[in-house]
Amino acid sequence: MSNRVEPIRSVKGTRDLLPPDTNLWQRVETEAHRVFAAYHYGEIRTPILEETALFARGVGAETDIVMKEMYTFRDRDEESLTLRPEATASVVRAYIEHSLYNQGGVQKLYYLGPMFRRERPQKGRYRQFYQIGAEVLGSQNPLVDVEVLEMLVLFLERVGIREYQLLINSVGCSNCRPAYLEALRAALQDVKATMCADCQRRGDTNPLRVLDCKVEADQPIIEKLPKIIDHLDPECLQHFDRVRSELQARGLAYQITPRLVRGLDYYTRTTFEITSGALGAQNALVGGGRYDGLSEMLGGPPTPGIGFSIGQDRLILAVQAAAALPQGNPLAVYVVWMGEPTLASAARLVRELRAQGVSVEIDYDPMKIKKAMGIANKLQARFAVIIGEGELASGKYQVKDMASGEQKELEPGAIAEYVKQQL
Ligand code: HAM
Repeated sequence: MSNRVEPIRSVKGTRDLLPPDTNLWQRVETEAHRVFAAYHYGEIRTPILEETALFARGVGAETDIVMKEMYTFRDRDEESLTLRPEATASVVRAYIEHSLYNQGGVQKLYYLGPMFRRERPQKGRYRQFYQIGAEVLGSQNPLVDVEVLEMLVLFLERVGIREYQLLINSVGCSNCRPAYLEALRAALQDVKATMCADCQRRGDTNPLRVLDCKVEADQPIIEKLPKIIDHLDPECLQHFDRVRSELQARGLAYQITPRLVRGLDYYTRTTFEITSGALGAQNALVGGGRYDGLSEMLGGPPTPGIGFSIGQDRLILAVQAAAALPQGNPLAVYVVWMGEPTLASAARLVRELRAQGVSVEIDYDPMKIKKAMGIANKLQARFAVIIGEGELASGKYQVKDMASGEQKELEPGAIAEYVKQQL
């Protein structure tokens, strides 16, 4: 009788990120920290758990995210908690909670971390996924919209993404949207019955959501519905025109996409997405836009805001497709020791090299030199340092360039400098 137990696997839609992939994740994150710092953003880290009401109020009770996709549970004290499906509502909650509006000027914040949505998993779509996002609070200026997009494009280019499309739209504001929604509702009255069940319901509860319906048969109907950019009030139209002309002036290519209303209710005026052909079906790499009413919806002072979130899982897929960043964590040195008396010196050298930031590997089990060199090869070490009893006696170690085969004798203290110069 076997008493082997079934191994436990990761939860559906979640996954382990392993080396060498995690190295690429780190590189992308390092670049994000760099670019956002250059635009003078500061990092914010908000909790992954929030009160459910935050998303119901912020993202919108009628959205797919809130209705179908949230991981919500009752805590032991009966409070309803949710694993964050996105971070914009959390950032604005924190902005209000810590009265960041009292600090004067605009607040520019960015974040990285996991989000949770119970969607059907497929390539590029996970139930735990990661976002890199940025938010600006406290300015309505269309130049801020453009600066946000400029930063985003710079970041994408820095990580080697060249093939992408920036789609933009304006969804108006609380002043002009009601009239548009009336026009949309009226148009939907005539065609709703022929549409999918979700659209029939949304036609009454939240007609804007009809525009991002993905059902094939509904598409020709949606094409003919009234467009929100034809219903903007003069201020929203002026804002949108300024965004467009300034994007043009800065040489940032875009495409106006009237159906782009986004899947979250907080948006006002500018909305945008970046799609990438390298991604297949889940081609939305970035989503974002303005949310001038969100702070008030969450009980804060009137505060305009704009931001974006990059889907990091998809970004990594696109970076891999573009073969843009070198992958893996290259090993600089593999240390080979021959005979028990050399082990202490080998360990000392390893420690010194690592302290100087050189990546080093060593095996602590004794083995023949042929086997050790085989491992150095397999690990693709740039150099092998060989310490035998002869080297120990002379005080000079063999440093072998694994690519050229060239071998040098160096004192232990000189090895770090030499290796660093060659890398
Ligand atoms: P979102 O469009 O819902 O916007 O998500 C942004 C990006 O996150 C998407 O374009 C996609 O790349 C990625 N993403 C979303 N769901 C998944 C998933 N299940 N698996 C993998 N990746 C996914 C927001 O979240 C807003 N907070 C963006 C924003 C910031 N708006 C203003 N500021």
